[in-house]
Amino acid sequence: MLADSYGRIIRDLRVSLTDRCNFRCFYCLPNGEPPLARKETILTFEEIVEICEIFVSLGIEKIRLTGGEPLLRKDIEKLVAKIAELKTTNLDEQPKTKKQKPALKDLALTTNGFSLEKRAANLKKAGLDRVTISLDSLKKENFKRMTGVDKLDEVLAAIEAAKRARLEPIRINAVLVRGWNDDEIVGLASFARENALSMRFIEYMPLDSAHEWDKGLVVAGREVYRKINEVFPLKLKETSRGSETAWKYSFADGARGEIGIIAPVTEMFCGACSRIRLTADGQIRTCLFSTGEHNLRDQLRSGASRPEIVDFIKAVVMKKEPRHFINDKNFASASRSMSFIGG
Ligand code: GTP
Ligand code: 5AD
Ligand code: SF4
Repeated sequence: MLADSYGRIIRDLRVSLTDRCNFRCFYCLPNGEPPLARKETILTFEEIVEICEIFVSLGIEKIRLTGGEPLLRKDIEKLVAKIAELKTTNLDEQPKTKKQKPALKDLALTTNGFSLEKRAANLKKAGLDRVTISLDSLKKENFKRMTGVDKLDEVLAAIEAAKRARLEPIRINAVLVRGWNDDEIVGLASFARENALSMRFIEYMPLDSAHEWDKGLVVAGREVYRKINEVFPLKLKETSRGSETAWKYSFADGARGEIGIIAPVTEMFCGACSRIRLTADGQIRTCLFSTGEHNLRDQLRSGASRPEIVDFIKAVVMKKEPRHFINDKNFASASRSMSFIGG
């Protein structure tokens, strides 16, 4: 099992497959900075699979593929198929006395949805369990203003395709930015009801590549709750959320769909964090806001043995930061912005 120096158990690995993206979201990569990683520094599929396998052997249960935009990486269905093999350890076939091997339980993907429509069915077939799709606005003009591309229709079609492919539960991520889309909170909640989706409202964090973040642009989770609850009364689903990021609510009138509120800025959830991240170029990040990284790629490529790599990972996890420092006076920006880390 992987544990950090504060006793938090790490069960959730997020793997960024590329630092390129074809959207220009205001809160993430507005100016389309060139990718940091060079081709030869990007992990190959074989390397990613090997790393995932090691992490799963250490107790990782959830893997989320992210980016940049992960679907920009060619043939990711092949990678998905390989990682999905980590879910099947034939537990049923093992004699009861034999110690069960840890297995992956959940394989998810975060995407902007741009090219998901035609790929959803094959991704499911390859073994992907579910997707999270970004959608910050339901108004064509505002969508374009926020993401830099005129692709609302494609994203809506992607959501439909994900439903058909049963990539469920389908989660929709909306980052709220004051003055940009805070007038769409109820509209997005209504969309979740009509389409039986899990709609997650996320506080804007200082991870944008343009460094435009300002506390005044953050729409607090509490405000989101209040605005939705006034129109569609909400019911908290569980009083404890474990290591999850979102408080989840159902609609009190029994409508389908779910509201998730993710409030890392105003209601920090680091105390229960179970996450660790791998960048496309093979660096381990122990926190979204880490100011340094740990070079797993070089370990792997230098021919280190499996036990040496395991020791390296264990030592890195011990260095995980206790929390983020967004609200502290001397907050130091993360060493990379969100598009290079993955959400
Ligand atoms: P599920 O696995 O579906 O529960 O999703 P998740 O909440 O683990 O992950 P997702 O990638 O959908 O996260 C949604 C958003 O929450 C991300 O895009 C980030 O903005 C934010 N977020 C996710 N993980 C962290 C974290 O560890 N720290 C902070 N501060 N924010 C996070
Ligand atoms: N603050 C909060 N969430 C962000 N994301 C990207 N940039 C930010 C930010 N600055 C999230 C979006 C997207 C996921 C990949 O990362 O929700 O869905
Ligand atoms: Fe975990 Fe860092 Fe996110 Fe806090 S900010 S929840 S410590 S990754």
